[in-house]
Amino acid sequence: MGKIVSFSNQKGGVGKTTSCVNIAAQIANKGKKVLMIDMDPQGNATSGIGLSKSKIKKTIYEVIIGKCDVKDAVIKTKFKNLSVIPATIDLAGAEIELHDLQEAGEIEIDFIKEAIKSISSEFDYVFIDCPPSLGMLTVKALSVSDGVVIPMQCEFYSLEGMSQLFNTIKIIHQRFNPELRIVGILLTMYNGRLTLTNQVVSELKKYYADKLFKVPISRTVRISEAPGYGEPICYHDPYGKGSLEYAAVAKELMMRI
Ligand SMILES: Nc1ncnc2c1ncn2[C@@H]1O[C@H](COP(=O)(O)OP(=O)(O)OP(=O)(O)O)[C@@H](O)[C@H]1O
Ligand SMILES: [Mg+2]
Repeated sequence: MGKIVSFSNQKGGVGKTTSCVNIAAQIANKGKKVLMIDMDPQGNATSGIGLSKSKIKKTIYEVIIGKCDVKDAVIKTKFKNLSVIPATIDLAGAEIELHDLQEAGEIEIDFIKEAIKSISSEFDYVFIDCPPSLGMLTVKALSVSDGVVIPMQCEFYSLEGMSQLFNTIKIIHQRFNPELRIVGILLTMYNGRLTLTNQVVSELKKYYADKLFKVPISRTVRISEAPGYGEPICYHDPYGKGSLEYAAVAKELMMRI
């Protein structure tokens, strides 16, 4: 069984997708078999890996509503050892449809959980890119995960959201998934010259010192432009700062889980 790791934070635009794509590609490039599941209707991880959403037929949405076998939704990317189950905007309706199908008794409650568990046996790692909410898609992802990585920016409001996120993780751990644990908090778009950044980091260290990944991810132009080329940073700018930092985080992640 491969390890299943979700990238989650209900706050938007904190670097969940960027971290999921780049860590997945980095670990795959180093020789592990990796599956990335796009669990966000925005489909950013799908386009970030170079897939054209208009050409995709089978997505995680079809898997969730039971219209497609999970194996048939897996697409091999052009990057070494990296496969993906894509998402498109169709996924936005899944929450309501799943509820209706469950009411009508047409679908098992844990259908998506079983699908992800079964496909994980074919990979070393499965990384799930979660949407910016704590709704059904995130709950499903966390319910099937061995671990969660929490990307966050060093801003005041980031700290406010943390306790809510930790509470949700605790509830899922208690009710649905005793395996779930926090792999780490990853600081993204980091700029150590800012006073606020240092204040937030020292706050975080007070409460979550053991959870912080040792290397933060700096804010760089190369990281932000890479998805426009449909390339993870380890291919787009292999020797750049962003690539080296993501490589260090990927290494630490593999030691942690
Ligand atoms: N280290 C970085 N340096 C520069 N830009 C970055 C970095 N990390 C992420 N970004 C940019 O910040 C924006 C938000 O990142 P990303 O889409 O990964 O966040 P997200 O948490 O997945 O967002 P959402 O909540 O909408 O899913 C993107 O435009 C991305 O390119
Ligand atoms: Mg995202």
